[in-house]
Amino acid sequence: MRVGVLTGGGDCPGLNAVIRAVVRKGIKDYGYEFVGFRDGWRGPLEGDTMPLDRAAVSGILPRGGTILGSSRTNLMKIEGGVEKVKQNMAELNIDALVAIGGEDTLGVATQLHDQGVKVVGVPKTIDNDLNATDYTFGFDTAVNIATEAIDRLHTTAESHHRALVVEVMGRHAGWIALHSGMAAGANVILIPERPFDIHEVVAHVESRFQTNYAPILVVAEGAHPKDGQMELSTGEKDSFGHVRLGGIGQRLSEEIESRTGKEARSVVLGHVQRGGTPSAFDRVLATRLGVNAIEAVHDQEYGRMVGLQGTEIVRVDLSAATDKLKTVPSERFEEAEVFFG
Ligand code: F6P
Repeated sequence: MRVGVLTGGGDCPGLNAVIRAVVRKGIKDYGYEFVGFRDGWRGPLEGDTMPLDRAAVSGILPRGGTILGSSRTNLMKIEGGVEKVKQNMAELNIDALVAIGGEDTLGVATQLHDQGVKVVGVPKTIDNDLNATDYTFGFDTAVNIATEAIDRLHTTAESHHRALVVEVMGRHAGWIALHSGMAAGANVILIPERPFDIHEVVAHVESRFQTNYAPILVVAEGAHPKDGQMELSTGEKDSFGHVRLGGIGQRLSEEIESRTGKEARSVVLGHVQRGGTPSAFDRVLATRLGVNAIEAVHDQEYGRMVGLQGTEIVRVDLSAATDKLKTVPSERFEEAEVFFG
């Protein structure tokens, strides 16, 4: 049996741990051979491969990024793309694929499976917004990085009597903002699921200034005000139609300055949240998912994805992961709201 492995979409701490686990388990217990496809769906589309043996995965467990490279190539937008992938897999004698990715990569995997490709998925995203898994690896690392940054911003904000707006990742779901904001004692947390009222935000900022502490606001990049309250700019789109975000933090700090007369600054954590070594939690989760993904291949359970439910790794249909996003429930946000202002 020869198995192809690919990583697609935004990179994420723990990807290398999954690749290592897939390969180590597959060689040790089943005697499989592996082929690495480079840069997400571009690899199978163009037949661009790299060796993926025991030596290739040695020493990669704590390394961030992905040794296979990644891209946001949308196979389904390329004419004849699916046929090309099937042809390349046949020429390379590849029997099955393990696709490690988020909403977009697994969406493509679902469609490929519908067209007869043998594929098993592994959920990945720092955003933690994939359905059918309680956590995705990379999220814990991103939250730890954001929490440390916010801890540091408290002291400088207080020294200068400024409001600090920290923009974190989270296009459609505010999990990183919610967890890092709660862990680091933010005074306001804004998430995409809850359009915010700028008057309430300003009231929280003012009441915080009155206590002589400086306000820290954590805002997910996809957060937005209630209709018509603030003008926002829109960016260019990628091949999956997602707008490139980034800018709400700056807009909010300008608005706070003009409405309160106090100084406000914004900090965009950006890709720092995705870089570097995974946390121990993410290494363990990624390793368990990798081991279970290759077991699913061995059991010929194609069209399935492995996920974490409670403390167990389970198998679900690939489509269950991408049918709908796992967003922050209102009860979770209300727990965080206790500490606003
Ligand atoms: O999906 C992961 C993610 O990090 C999102 O949080 C963010 O919106 C997006 O990727 C950023 O995309 P890019 O890597 O293309 O800048």
